[in-house]
Amino acid sequence: MIILIVGSGAREHALARALSLDPAVTQLHAAPGNPGIATLATAAGTPAVVHGVDALDPVAVAALAAAVKADLVVVGPEAPLVAGVADAVRGAGIPVFGPSGTAAMLEGSKAFAKEVMAAAHVPTAETRVCSTADELAAALAAFGAPYVVKDDGLAAGKGVVVTDDLTAALAHGQGILEAGAVVVVEDFLDGPEVSLFCLCDGESVVPLQPAQDFKRAYDADAGPNTGGMGAYSPLDWAPEGLVDEVVRTVAQPTVDEMARRGTPFVGVLYCGLALTSTGVRVVEFNARFGDPETQVVLARLATPLAGVLLAAAEGRLDGLPLLEWRDDAAVTVVIAAENYPADPRRGDPITGIAEAEQVDTVHVLHAGTALDPRGILLSNGGRVLSVTASGATLAQARERAYAGVDRIVLPGSHHRTDIAARAAEGPGGAA
Ligand code: GLY
Repeated sequence: MIILIVGSGAREHALARALSLDPAVTQLHAAPGNPGIATLATAAGTPAVVHGVDALDPVAVAALAAAVKADLVVVGPEAPLVAGVADAVRGAGIPVFGPSGTAAMLEGSKAFAKEVMAAAHVPTAETRVCSTADELAAALAAFGAPYVVKDDGLAAGKGVVVTDDLTAALAHGQGILEAGAVVVVEDFLDGPEVSLFCLCDGESVVPLQPAQDFKRAYDADAGPNTGGMGAYSPLDWAPEGLVDEVVRTVAQPTVDEMARRGTPFVGVLYCGLALTSTGVRVVEFNARFGDPETQVVLARLATPLAGVLLAAAEGRLDGLPLLEWRDDAAVTVVIAAENYPADPRRGDPITGIAEAEQVDTVHVLHAGTALDPRGILLSNGGRVLSVTASGATLAQARERAYAGVDRIVLPGSHHRTDIAARAAEGPGGAA
């Protein structure tokens, strides 16, 4: 099978790595990929090829898919999905794992997602959509602290502010309004958060294993929201039956509602959940795999990935055999550039990746990296690397991931030191 992956982050590197290990994959292409993806080869030894094609250009991606004779295109990030890349590829008659631009609005507009959730009776926080400063102030007063203020549109994980400080909440909302966008204000959801990825083929839903992400920049959940600073799986503390409950009360009703509207959802429905004292609630939907949760979920998936994604793309999930999972736990730690998330510094040299990968099970996934003309690896984004490891226990996976992190040198970088720390302590250890 010839596969084209669209995107350039650590999530796409994790997808490409998993696909490269699948014997059914004969060629692997990426648009634009990254220096880490460029080092992969298929199980038969064919090197992966990265193409200088803009992931946000639907026509160019569809043309590349046709040129390489792709059997399947896998779209990683949300922005190409919202831009209609999956539509263009599907229009060219090529199977694609990823929703149409219309269906991707489940992530592209939080107000739209809330409207679909209401129609599908999916449990979520109460919300007000605000277009004026008066509406914003009234919504914040109605819900009270902690204030949850979100940009309606895509913001790479940085559009959300959760704060007890009314001035900061107002300032964030006003900034969004001044940029010409709409603000979504929500009731705060207490309880630990869980990410559950549900593969969808427009009708059927196949859940993966849950993971937990660490969204704040610094230890002990301090600092600003980020795209995610680390993740782990499995969640031994999660209630039994959680996955079945989420499929039954969240994912399947949403997929049914999207089908009823004539905009079937094909790809990953990322259910961002809060396990509140009054039950499971949806914090957010995303229309793609999460980053960095994908790094740990795929590290645990034993079923070869290509056939699973193709079955979703071709509407055949119903006949798919049960997915198989390794007993291992997995942990990933993100190494971020100096001054991430505010204004990450770029262009610093990165060394120690090979040394990190000498630690048992450690693999280093690239996100914000680039090669300079001399072939020197430099930082080129906010989240630079995801250092991922497995182990018989979460504690062992964690120890290995951090041993890998310790061997990597990136001047000015920072990472959290508490990824999976509480969960690794044993029962009841939700982060
Ligand atoms: N880890 C959060 C996200 O992928 O949106």
